[in-house]
Amino acid sequence: MGTFDEVYDRSMADPEGFWGEAAGAIHWDTPPERVLDDSNPPFYRWFRGGRLNTCFNALDRWVDGGDGVDEVRADQPALIHDSPVTGTVTTYTYRELRDLVARFAGALADLGVGVGDRVVVYMPMVPEAAVAMLACARLGAVHSVVFGGFAPHELAIRIDDARPKVIVSASCGIEGSKVIEYKPLLDRALDLAGSSAPEHCVILQRPQAEATLLEGRDHAWADLVAAAEPHPCVPVEATDPLYVLYTSGTTGKPKGVVRDNGGHAVALRWSMANVYGVAPGEVFWAASDVGWVVGHSYIVYAPLLSGCTTVMYEGKPVGTPDPGAFWRVAAQHDVSVLFTAPTALRAIKKEDAGGAHLAGHDLSGLRALFLAGERTDPDTYEWAVELLGIPVIDHWWQTETGWAVAANCLGIEALPVKAGSPTRPVPGYRVEILDELGAEVEPGRDGSIAVRLPLPPGSLPTLWNDDKRFVSSYLSTYEGYYLTGDGGRVDDDGYLFVMGRIDDVINVAGHRLSTGAMEEVLATHPAVAECAVIGVADELKGQMPLGLVVLKNGVEVDDEALEKELVQLVRDEIGAVASFKRAVVVARLPKTRSGKVLRATMRAIADGRDFAVPSTIDDPAVLDEIGAALDHA
Ligand code: COA
Ligand code: AMP
Repeated sequence: MGTFDEVYDRSMADPEGFWGEAAGAIHWDTPPERVLDDSNPPFYRWFRGGRLNTCFNALDRWVDGGDGVDEVRADQPALIHDSPVTGTVTTYTYRELRDLVARFAGALADLGVGVGDRVVVYMPMVPEAAVAMLACARLGAVHSVVFGGFAPHELAIRIDDARPKVIVSASCGIEGSKVIEYKPLLDRALDLAGSSAPEHCVILQRPQAEATLLEGRDHAWADLVAAAEPHPCVPVEATDPLYVLYTSGTTGKPKGVVRDNGGHAVALRWSMANVYGVAPGEVFWAASDVGWVVGHSYIVYAPLLSGCTTVMYEGKPVGTPDPGAFWRVAAQHDVSVLFTAPTALRAIKKEDAGGAHLAGHDLSGLRALFLAGERTDPDTYEWAVELLGIPVIDHWWQTETGWAVAANCLGIEALPVKAGSPTRPVPGYRVEILDELGAEVEPGRDGSIAVRLPLPPGSLPTLWNDDKRFVSSYLSTYEGYYLTGDGGRVDDDGYLFVMGRIDDVINVAGHRLSTGAMEEVLATHPAVAECAVIGVADELKGQMPLGLVVLKNGVEVDDEALEKELVQLVRDEIGAVASFKRAVVVARLPKTRSGKVLRATMRAIADGRDFAVPSTIDDPAVLDEIGAALDHA
């Protein structure tokens, strides 16, 4: 195959040849007419003219065989659901999963779902979540999974934008030792969504808390499936949407990232072999949630497109029941490659720094640990390497890209690791560090991380129903480039160092959240005149949100009582996952003379870092006031 440099250089010199060849690993009902359609920049489309079905590629071809299939895998486990919170482990072979998906696709079709219709999936980590996603893919429908930790308001915003024909949900989720009833949250979201609410909901009843179903609107999963016939795969255009996944932007309105069928299948299949070095038949475990992009790409699609066994874990790194949970799962299912977020490792390290819980678990089959979701700090990296004695690979990507932008591509050539760096840009991505004017900066200098267009297959072609926002959010800052929103640098060896977001997005326990959305919620409190939310450094979660609020003139409130109300407000409106726990009352917010709130400066104060007083500041004395208020709080 060649060295990493050779493969990378070829992807840059001849993208059409490179990705055209990769497309050979996918079954096409009609082969693409063009590999890259660049006739309408900045909108690029991959594999135009091709027709395929993603579910066929993920399931049926492994059951029935066909072109490009090395061996039939009908009786090989496709999905292992490991759920310490319910005390169950359930394995589905490729044949069993295909049959379940085909039947659920039939059930959705009976409710009127067809090509291009949206289906919102609001579910905990149960196999039926993957079944629902794959059933949509089978029908050519577009799924939009909403993370279970989001509150009704956030769910309603997504329903309103996606306008689904059906919502698939469950009666409850289990978070550690808590049973969380989903149905009241769904009902509230449907009320909020008003006329955007669909006619039908499918509810998976779980014994931990059964839901009351609304006559006419709600259908029990089991009843529908029992009455349904299996539905065949419906081929769609390569450029047709497979899913929409909403992600936090800088405002309260999330961005609906669109993923197409063709580019996605090609890129994910390629990434399993080349980024992760995983072969068909091996077991891959992404310890994430189907509500995030990691769950879409590496719990559901990539492992199945590659004929692997995927592990779906309904539990936490600690507390279900102990910090040995990950090692138990990896050993029990003979996992070859594990993918998780650094925050999960920090949670394990906090409870079991010496690795006592590793004892008794045979991890000899585990070849590598991949980390993403936030930067892997060198301490966590060193700890994991020492504990596990295998390559620990930080890799960097985003909901928008759908797969790694920078990584150590173990399937091509393992490069030396530099702690704190996700290694080098992956084949397909031309990453550059730009200054404010769009000029490339020297190695070693910090700047804005941008990717030269066209982005490779699998990355977003646009935002749902909003080409304009796609261009204004990502493509208009630097012409000819995609703006990642992250800042960082490249060193003399071409290694990338991603240092964090340079916009109003924060990462809390590997979860991407918008400070702008939290500010919008705080501003609705009657006592609040003005506010800012910043992400402050946190040992466990990487970052935690902190609210700074200015009261309306003449308002007298008890600061502690106000904080409690604001915390509850964010929990109710955005969800527990926001982890919003602190709000501090300040007299004024520091601003530039043109009125822009100096969030980065406040972040430096809160983190106790050195900072330069911005030359544009209106009144430098405000910074001392903020420092004093934070010390006092
Ligand atoms: N449904 C409902 N509530 C949820 C939820 C879900 N799917 N996921 C999280 N929550 C709730 C939690 O119960 C918690 O509620 P609480 O405030 O009542 O305790 C809150 O949201 C915050 O959750 P989290 O930030 O996950 O904190 P935690 O203390 O429960 O767990 C970690 C901390 C580090 C163990 C956990 O965040 C983790 O495993 N992170 C890995 C992140 C990850 O997989 N990211 C995906 C990208 S790779
Ligand atoms: P999400 O879209 O939820 O996957 O979040 C993407 C964001 O998470 C990126 O823009 C980064 O800010 C951050 N991120 C993800 N992986 C890494 C990493 N390996 N190093 C640094 N930041 C990361």
